[in-house]
Amino acid sequence: MSTAISPTAYNYKVVRQFAIMTVVWGILGMGLGVFIASQLVWPQLNLDLPWTSFGRLRPLHTNLVIFAFGGCALFGTSYYVVQRTCQTRLISDSMAAFTFWGWQAVIVGALITLPMGYTTTKEYAELEWPLAILLAIVWVTYGLVFFGTIVKRKTKHIYVGNWFYGAFIVVTAMLHIVNHISLPVSLFKSYSAYAGATDAMIQWWYGHNAVGFFLTTGFLGMMYYFVPKQAERPIYSYRLSIVHFWALITLYIWAGPHHLHYTALPDWAQSLGMVMSIILLAPSWGGMINGMMTLSGAWHKLRTDPILRFLVVSLAFYGMSTFEGPMMAIKTVNSLSHYTDWTIGHVHAGALGWVAMISIGAVYHMIPKLYGREQMHSIGLINAHFWLATIGTVLYIASMWVNGITQGLMWRAINDDGTLTYSFVEALQASHPGYIVRALGGAFFASGMLLMAYNVFRTVRAANPAQAEEAAKIVVVGAH
Ligand code: HEM
Ligand code: HEM
Repeated sequence: MSTAISPTAYNYKVVRQFAIMTVVWGILGMGLGVFIASQLVWPQLNLDLPWTSFGRLRPLHTNLVIFAFGGCALFGTSYYVVQRTCQTRLISDSMAAFTFWGWQAVIVGALITLPMGYTTTKEYAELEWPLAILLAIVWVTYGLVFFGTIVKRKTKHIYVGNWFYGAFIVVTAMLHIVNHISLPVSLFKSYSAYAGATDAMIQWWYGHNAVGFFLTTGFLGMMYYFVPKQAERPIYSYRLSIVHFWALITLYIWAGPHHLHYTALPDWAQSLGMVMSIILLAPSWGGMINGMMTLSGAWHKLRTDPILRFLVVSLAFYGMSTFEGPMMAIKTVNSLSHYTDWTIGHVHAGALGWVAMISIGAVYHMIPKLYGREQMHSIGLINAHFWLATIGTVLYIASMWVNGITQGLMWRAINDDGTLTYSFVEALQASHPGYIVRALGGAFFASGMLLMAYNVFRTVRAANPAQAEEAAKIVVVGAH
């Protein structure tokens, strides 16, 4: 087999832009998370202003962490992975640039409109119709760039990471467009095309699959590239990765009704959601095991490589949250956990432990390569970041488990004469210590992001453009 250096190079510019913005939005989104967590400890922080009230800042937090931080990580890594595994440049530089600037425009739109109170009221789909349309246009362009690049690939087969990224792009487009169908009545107000239980079902079909495809499938694409790369080992089982892919995408789409247990949704639909969620444990763990086992023979690297530690611990949290999720989907368990902080703990086991940790690991892997450096400015700082993130996540989720189960048990406790044993405010008082611990855990996690920003800044400042250009050259393996 021979190799040839192609005259063209990868488009690293757009990857660099998304990688940097991942860090910037991560700091803002998580900083805001710490702020709203503090509001739940000290309500005075609502500042008696509508724009800074918990109700308006909470959706801004979710939009910033999911779409700004997570979204930039997904765009950046997918553009990096698709080029490198297809050994070709992105199909269009201008379309890629449009996705970058368009995506930032949507986020800035969210930053302005959500605190002003403009919202569709649908969770994770709050942006009003003009922004939702812009988002759809950016997303379709993203799909064209990604799949166009796959079509002109120089390799024979399509690496499995791209299958996951591809499914995430197609399904996110479908979810966003279907859930957003609505009737605009003014520039900032629209009404959903669906009504009642149908509206709720469409919304949670969207909401659950936003978790399944945006917060899971896309990040699994990341996992399939960066874990083997950082461990310098091939993926444990290619066959398992194919089974993992088809099983995951076939099952996820049916599990949405577990968000609507004990509601007006027909009973059979709730039970279907429950059963599908339990079955979902199998492909989720199949994927986790495939990632973990990739380290066979390389476990010792964990001692010296904090980037690999980020990636592996993210898989451990992925396994944990995908065990917890199916349990919470069981109707009897959900009757205790629903409405409580247990759900919030589950969310952040996935969000901090899995989504944020794998993104952080991937960005640390890419930055030196994108800027022509051997490695990040400081490995010690990555190590410190790793511990802040891990301890922060554990403090967050453990406090929310304690709070959640306390709340669930206190709310359902009844006296012999059928009256409630505890008033709501008593359960709230019992939750107060947990809220302090959660805010502390969040502060740990967010301060780790500040270390990351400094480390990235120093690495970028010492960039070696000539070497970066050399590294971006396309080496076609197997060329004749
Ligand atoms: C420093 C880190 C973070 C802190 C302190 C934090 C804090 C919070 C707080 C206080 C809430 C509101 C909880 C409530 O209503 O009772 C929340 C909700 C939420 N956060 Fe975070 N967060 C952080 C990071 C993240 C990240 C990185 C993600 C996603 C990648 C995320 C996703 C969410 C989601 C999806 C919700 C809504 C949960 C639900 O409605 O069940 N958070 N967060
Ligand atoms: C097999 C996998 C999973 C299953 C079956 C599952 C199941 C569940 C269940 C039953 C709930 C509670 C619904 C309620 O009572 O309202 C829930 C909430 C949630 N889960 Fe999961 N989960 C899984 C994995 C994950 C992962 C990996 C993440 C994050 C990356 C995640 C993010 C969320 C979010 C954001 C919510 C809160 C939705 C809301 O009410 O706003 N889940 N999940």
